[in-house]
Amino acid sequence: MNVLSVKNYSKRFFIHHLAREISAFANLNFNLSAGQFLLVSGANGVGKSTLLRCLYRSYRPTCGEALYHSQYGVVDLASLADVDMALLRKQEIGFVTQFLRPRPRITALQLVSEPLLLQGLSAEVAQERAERLLDSFGLKTDLWHAYPTTFSGGEQQKVNLARALIRPHRLLLLDEPTASLDVQARASLHRELARLKTEGVAIMGVFHHPEDVQDLLDNSIELVLESVDREVEHDPNLLVK
Ligand SMILES: Nc1ncnc2c1ncn2[C@@H]1O[C@H](COP(=O)(O)OP(=O)(O)OP(=O)(O)O)[C@@H](O)[C@H]1O
Ligand SMILES: [Mg+2]
Repeated sequence: MNVLSVKNYSKRFFIHHLAREISAFANLNFNLSAGQFLLVSGANGVGKSTLLRCLYRSYRPTCGEALYHSQYGVVDLASLADVDMALLRKQEIGFVTQFLRPRPRITALQLVSEPLLLQGLSAEVAQERAERLLDSFGLKTDLWHAYPTTFSGGEQQKVNLARALIRPHRLLLLDEPTASLDVQARASLHRELARLKTEGVAIMGVFHHPEDVQDLLDNSIELVLESVDREVEHDPNLLVK
């Protein structure tokens, strides 16, 4: 079953102080089905994060469409009303970056169990599942009731992943979720992603260590820099404008 069909998808940014546009990615076409895992690769600055952000609608793409098969029917993520996008984010599309946004005086366990509480699960069930996930990612039990604002980068990433993966999704977007994880946590993530695949979740991600998920991949797209952007980057006359 098809989950996502991306057609002629492009994103350009207007850089005001250069008074010109730069292209993040152009003319992308791909499909993603339920239970499939698509790797997005390419050099730094080629537009990988921007592509995921456009699909999650943190940015609007400049042109093209992203037809997404939601539980309510097919919608175009490129032009969907903000309020409908907010509902999809809440119910079926997840986005995990390498950064946690810790909130003051909210413990790791509270942060991880919160999505389940919002779905109406009991506090006991939510806490039990949160503990299981934090344990599987190897967060020290001493820290479960501590505030993640002071956690190390890797510890924050474990909380971030547990919070994101604890609730069900139809489409999961991952932007370098393993960048600062230790070996055990990377192995746990592999197990979780394998399980999500068998449950039919469509997964699309950028990976710092793509070899970690090699055996789970069904497809990959490699983004490449457009020559016109390279010219801009290397032309000092344009940059000092
Ligand atoms: N909000 C923005 N405004 C202007 N330009 C932006 C914005 N976000 C990204 N860009 C530019 O778009 C291009 C692609 O950025 P992006 O972050 O998507 O790259 P990436 O492939 O994820 O790189 P990396 O591997 O370093 O994470 C870059 O040249 C970047 O400077
Ligand atoms: Mg990136």
